[in-house]
Amino acid sequence: MNERVIVALDTRSAPNALELVDRIGARCSFYKVGLELYTAEGPAVVQSLRDLGKNVFLDVKLHDIPNTVAGATARAGEMGVTFLTVHAMGGLDMLRAASAAAPPSLTLLGVTVLTSLDEAGLEALFGRRVEDAGGEADRLACMVRQAGLRGAVCSAAEAARVRRTMGPGSSIVTPGIRLAGEAVHDQRRVRTAAQAFRDGATHVVVGRSVTAARDPAAAFARIVTDAESAR
Ligand code: C5P
Repeated sequence: MNERVIVALDTRSAPNALELVDRIGARCSFYKVGLELYTAEGPAVVQSLRDLGKNVFLDVKLHDIPNTVAGATARAGEMGVTFLTVHAMGGLDMLRAASAAAPPSLTLLGVTVLTSLDEAGLEALFGRRVEDAGGEADRLACMVRQAGLRGAVCSAAEAARVRRTMGPGSSIVTPGIRLAGEAVHDQRRVRTAAQAFRDGATHVVVGRSVTAARDPAAAFARIVTDAESAR
């Protein structure tokens, strides 16, 4: 199960990130590099993680014209990235171009509706009435699948629905994971790893529960133990 628990390296610099990786230890084999760390350090931090034998989820949520996104996807593939996020709202042609540019070693994950957008935020974006943000997310997940992508990112609360839409064999990656009874920080809806896996997630992303813990290795082990209870 530990290879299915991804730790988010939401740090400002590569030295901070690599110190965390060292403290978490050998059991964790999958790390998420997000926009802040990637903007600060670029491909070098991905290479450092690959040199340590770690898998990398590059969470930069690509959204641009198809040709540009296809180029960025191909470069991420060359870097040895395992998961890469693209915005479904970039449209079907963009998703298809990304899908065609991804090597077999790279799984593209479609991002549907950011959890920071509620119905009012979507209405302002689309210029029409939106009754249910979850329904919009589902519509976009259909498009992600239609474009040939093999994965999606969603909250654990939506994992079961997204799993039905994406079909068996697809990767469903869910953030917002906490241990039972733990601080939720700024997350509105959290789930335990066990709940996420039971609902159809294939991977969970954990950030502060591990990275802000006094003993990150022990915190990682507790999340894995919780995840294993889902079996
Ligand atoms: O809250 P936590 O520190 O566990 O967050 C882990 C990662 O998941 C962060 O990198 C955050 O950006 C990402 N994420 C999230 N909720 C979303 C989408 C992404 O927490 N809805």
